[in-house]
Amino acid sequence: MAILSEHVARYLDELRPARSPVMHEMEAMAARDGMPIVQWETGRFLATLVRALDPGLVLEVGTAIGYSTLHMAEQLGRGHIVTLEIDPARAEVARGFFTRAGVGERVRVVEGDALETVSGVAGPIELLFLDAAKDEYRSYLELAEPALSPRALLVVDNVLMSGEVALRRGAPDTYWAADRLAGARILNAELLDSSAWVAAVLPIGDGIAFASRR
Ligand SMILES: C[S@@+](CC[C@H](N)C(=O)[O-])C[C@H]1O[C@@H](n2cnc3c(N)ncnc32)[C@H](O)[C@@H]1O
Repeated sequence: MAILSEHVARYLDELRPARSPVMHEMEAMAARDGMPIVQWETGRFLATLVRALDPGLVLEVGTAIGYSTLHMAEQLGRGHIVTLEIDPARAEVARGFFTRAGVGERVRVVEGDALETVSGVAGPIELLFLDAAKDEYRSYLELAEPALSPRALLVVDNVLMSGEVALRRGAPDTYWAADRLAGARILNAELLDSSAWVAAVLPIGDGIAFASRR
Protein backbone atom coordinates (compact mmCIF):
# COMPACT_ATOMS: atom_id res chain seq x y z
CA MET A 1 0.00 0.00 0.00
CA ALA A 2 1.19 3.54 -0.66
CA ILE A 3 -0.02 7.03 0.14
CA LEU A 4 0.04 8.34 -3.41
CA SER A 5 -1.45 6.81 -6.52
CA GLU A 6 1.11 5.04 -8.68
CA HIS A 7 1.31 7.63 -11.44
CA VAL A 8 1.82 10.51 -8.99
CA ALA A 9 4.52 8.60 -7.12
CA ARG A 10 6.26 7.82 -10.43
CA TYR A 11 6.06 11.45 -11.52
CA LEU A 12 7.59 12.68 -8.24
CA ASP A 13 10.28 10.03 -8.45
CA GLU A 14 11.25 11.16 -11.94
CA LEU A 15 11.31 14.76 -10.79
CA ARG A 16 14.04 14.14 -8.22
CA PRO A 17 17.24 15.93 -9.23
CA ALA A 18 20.65 14.24 -9.29
CA ARG A 19 22.04 13.65 -5.81
CA SER A 20 25.55 14.30 -4.55
CA PRO A 21 27.79 11.21 -4.80
CA VAL A 22 27.59 10.50 -1.05
CA MET A 23 23.82 10.89 -0.93
CA HIS A 24 23.54 8.61 -3.94
CA GLU A 25 25.72 6.04 -2.18
CA MET A 26 23.51 6.20 0.92
CA GLU A 27 20.40 5.56 -1.15
CA ALA A 28 22.09 2.60 -2.84
CA MET A 29 23.18 1.16 0.52
CA ALA A 30 19.71 1.60 1.99
CA ALA A 31 18.11 -0.15 -0.98
CA ARG A 32 20.66 -2.97 -0.95
CA ASP A 33 20.60 -3.60 2.81
CA GLY A 34 16.93 -2.83 3.47
CA MET A 35 17.95 0.14 5.62
CA PRO A 36 15.04 2.40 6.65
CA ILE A 37 15.62 5.95 5.43
CA VAL A 38 13.21 8.78 4.68
CA GLN A 39 11.96 9.22 1.15
CA TRP A 40 13.81 11.87 -0.84
CA GLU A 41 10.87 14.31 -0.65
CA THR A 42 10.91 14.13 3.16
CA GLY A 43 14.65 14.76 3.17
CA ARG A 44 14.20 17.72 0.86
CA PHE A 45 11.36 19.09 3.00
CA LEU A 46 13.66 18.99 6.04
CA ALA A 47 16.42 20.60 4.01
CA THR A 48 14.07 23.40 3.01
CA LEU A 49 13.14 24.04 6.62
CA VAL A 50 16.77 24.17 7.66
CA ARG A 51 17.56 26.56 4.84
CA ALA A 52 14.73 28.90 5.84
CA LEU A 53 15.16 28.67 9.62
CA ASP A 54 18.94 28.74 9.81
CA PRO A 55 18.60 26.95 13.17
CA GLY A 56 21.25 27.00 15.85
CA LEU A 57 20.39 23.44 16.82
CA VAL A 58 18.51 20.62 15.14
CA LEU A 59 17.76 17.48 17.12
CA GLU A 60 17.11 14.33 15.14
CA VAL A 61 15.95 11.14 16.86
CA GLY A 62 16.87 8.16 14.67
CA THR A 63 20.01 8.54 12.55
CA ALA A 64 20.29 5.15 10.82
CA ILE A 65 23.03 5.78 8.22
CA GLY A 66 22.50 9.55 8.27
CA TYR A 67 20.51 10.11 5.08
CA SER A 68 17.98 12.61 6.47
CA THR A 69 20.77 14.14 8.54
CA LEU A 70 22.79 14.81 5.41
CA HIS A 71 19.83 16.46 3.68
CA MET A 72 19.63 18.89 6.62
CA ALA A 73 23.38 19.28 7.19
CA GLU A 74 23.93 20.35 3.58
CA GLN A 75 21.68 23.38 4.21
CA LEU A 76 22.94 24.39 7.65
CA GLY A 77 24.34 27.87 8.05
CA ARG A 78 25.56 28.77 11.52
CA GLY A 79 24.14 25.81 13.46
CA HIS A 80 24.66 22.13 14.03
CA ILE A 81 22.73 18.88 14.27
CA VAL A 82 22.66 16.42 17.14
CA THR A 83 21.39 13.06 15.95
CA LEU A 84 20.60 10.09 18.22
CA GLU A 85 21.05 6.44 17.24
CA ILE A 86 20.75 3.31 19.34
CA ASP A 87 22.68 1.04 16.95
CA PRO A 88 26.45 1.66 17.23
CA ALA A 89 27.20 0.07 13.85
CA ARG A 90 24.76 2.39 12.09
CA ALA A 91 26.12 5.38 14.00
CA GLU A 92 29.62 4.51 12.79
CA VAL A 93 28.50 4.18 9.16
CA ALA A 94 26.72 7.54 9.45
CA ARG A 95 29.83 9.25 10.85
CA GLY A 96 31.85 7.94 7.90
CA PHE A 97 29.33 9.34 5.44
CA PHE A 98 29.28 12.74 7.20
CA THR A 99 33.05 13.00 7.04
CA ARG A 100 33.11 12.08 3.37
CA ALA A 101 30.30 14.52 2.59
CA GLY A 102 32.21 17.32 4.31
CA VAL A 103 29.62 17.93 7.05
CA GLY A 104 31.31 16.04 9.89
CA GLU A 105 31.99 19.25 11.81
CA ARG A 106 28.32 20.18 11.81
CA VAL A 107 26.90 16.88 13.05
CA ARG A 108 27.27 15.11 16.39
CA VAL A 109 26.07 11.51 16.50
CA VAL A 110 25.10 10.41 20.00
CA GLU A 111 24.94 6.66 20.51
CA GLY A 112 22.44 5.14 22.91
CA ASP A 113 18.76 4.81 23.61
CA ALA A 114 17.07 8.13 22.84
CA LEU A 115 14.82 7.58 25.84
CA GLU A 116 17.98 8.15 27.86
CA THR A 117 19.91 10.56 25.64
CA VAL A 118 17.24 13.09 24.58
CA SER A 119 17.17 14.83 27.93
CA GLY A 120 20.96 15.24 27.82
CA VAL A 121 20.71 17.52 24.79
CA ALA A 122 21.10 21.14 25.83
CA GLY A 123 18.72 23.41 23.95
CA PRO A 124 17.39 25.53 22.55
CA ILE A 125 16.30 23.05 19.89
CA GLU A 126 14.82 24.94 16.97
CA LEU A 127 13.91 21.95 14.81
CA LEU A 128 13.03 18.53 16.21
CA PHE A 129 12.81 15.59 13.80
CA LEU A 130 11.45 12.30 15.13
CA ASP A 131 12.21 9.18 13.09
CA ALA A 132 13.05 6.31 15.47
CA ALA A 133 10.82 3.76 17.29
CA LYS A 134 7.29 4.65 16.28
CA ASP A 135 5.80 3.62 19.63
CA GLU A 136 8.19 5.94 21.48
CA TYR A 137 7.40 9.19 19.63
CA ARG A 138 5.32 10.65 22.44
CA SER A 139 8.08 9.92 24.96
CA TYR A 140 10.75 11.57 22.76
CA LEU A 141 8.54 14.61 22.48
CA GLU A 142 7.93 14.83 26.21
CA LEU A 143 11.65 14.42 26.94
CA ALA A 144 12.68 17.05 24.39
CA GLU A 145 10.02 19.57 25.38
CA PRO A 146 12.01 21.41 28.09
CA ALA A 147 14.85 22.09 25.62
CA LEU A 148 12.67 23.33 22.76
CA SER A 149 12.93 26.95 21.68
CA PRO A 150 9.71 28.96 22.10
CA ARG A 151 8.96 28.77 18.34
CA ALA A 152 10.38 25.30 17.69
CA LEU A 153 9.27 23.32 14.67
CA LEU A 154 8.49 19.61 14.85
CA VAL A 155 8.56 17.04 12.05
CA VAL A 156 7.52 13.44 12.69
CA ASP A 157 7.98 10.80 10.01
CA ASN A 158 5.80 7.80 9.08
CA VAL A 159 2.60 9.17 10.55
CA LEU A 160 0.53 7.78 7.65
CA MET A 161 2.35 4.40 7.64
CA SER A 162 1.96 3.56 3.94
CA GLY A 163 -1.58 4.90 4.16
CA GLU A 164 -2.61 2.11 6.53
CA VAL A 165 -3.51 4.52 9.37
CA ALA A 166 -6.50 5.46 7.21
CA LEU A 167 -7.81 1.88 7.12
CA ARG A 168 -10.52 0.92 9.56
CA ARG A 169 -9.23 -0.27 12.92
CA GLY A 170 -8.42 -3.99 12.97
CA ALA A 171 -8.05 -4.26 9.18
CA PRO A 172 -6.32 -7.58 8.35
CA ASP A 173 -3.00 -8.10 6.55
CA THR A 174 -1.44 -4.72 7.17
CA TYR A 175 2.31 -4.22 6.80
CA TRP A 176 2.41 -2.09 9.95
CA ALA A 177 1.47 -3.79 13.22
CA ALA A 178 -1.92 -2.90 14.69
CA ASP A 179 -0.41 -1.28 17.79
CA ARG A 180 1.85 0.95 15.66
CA LEU A 181 -1.13 2.01 13.55
CA ALA A 182 -3.13 2.74 16.68
CA GLY A 183 -0.23 4.76 18.09
CA ALA A 184 0.07 6.86 14.91
CA ARG A 185 -3.67 7.55 14.89
CA ILE A 186 -3.51 8.74 18.49
CA LEU A 187 -0.43 10.90 17.88
CA ASN A 188 -1.94 12.54 14.79
CA ALA A 189 -5.19 13.29 16.57
CA GLU A 190 -3.40 14.61 19.64
CA LEU A 191 -1.13 16.90 17.65
CA LEU A 192 -3.97 18.31 15.58
CA ASP A 193 -5.96 19.03 18.73
CA SER A 194 -3.01 20.16 20.83
CA SER A 195 -2.87 23.33 22.87
CA ALA A 196 0.95 23.16 22.66
CA TRP A 197 1.31 22.82 18.86
CA VAL A 198 -0.23 24.12 15.65
CA ALA A 199 0.01 21.00 13.50
CA ALA A 200 -0.82 19.51 10.12
CA VAL A 201 -0.50 15.99 8.75
CA LEU A 202 1.01 16.11 5.27
CA PRO A 203 1.19 13.35 2.64
CA ILE A 204 4.91 13.75 2.06
CA GLY A 205 6.95 10.55 1.89
CA ASP A 206 5.37 8.14 4.34
CA GLY A 207 3.34 10.96 5.85
CA ILE A 208 4.74 13.58 8.17
CA ALA A 209 3.30 15.52 11.05
CA PHE A 210 4.50 19.11 10.81
CA ALA A 211 3.99 21.37 13.77
CA SER A 212 4.96 24.72 15.20
CA ARG A 213 5.05 25.36 18.91
CA ARG A 214 2.27 27.68 20.14
C1 LIG B 1 13.78 4.98 10.26
S1 LIG B 1 15.39 4.88 10.85
C2 LIG B 1 16.01 6.49 10.76
C3 LIG B 1 16.24 6.93 9.34
C4 LIG B 1 16.95 8.25 9.20
N1 LIG B 1 16.26 9.31 9.90
C5 LIG B 1 17.05 8.58 7.74
O1 LIG B 1 16.04 8.92 7.13
O2 LIG B 1 18.14 8.48 7.18
C6 LIG B 1 15.13 4.69 12.56
C7 LIG B 1 16.42 4.56 13.35
O3 LIG B 1 16.10 4.78 14.73
C8 LIG B 1 16.90 3.95 15.51
N2 LIG B 1 16.24 3.80 16.80
C9 LIG B 1 15.16 3.04 17.12
N3 LIG B 1 14.84 3.18 18.41
C10 LIG B 1 15.73 4.05 18.93
C11 LIG B 1 15.93 4.61 20.23
N4 LIG B 1 15.13 4.28 21.25
N5 LIG B 1 16.94 5.47 20.40
C12 LIG B 1 17.76 5.83 19.37
N6 LIG B 1 17.62 5.33 18.11
C13 LIG B 1 16.62 4.45 17.90
C14 LIG B 1 17.00 2.66 14.72
O4 LIG B 1 18.13 1.91 15.09
C15 LIG B 1 17.05 3.18 13.28
O5 LIG B 1 18.37 3.26 12.82
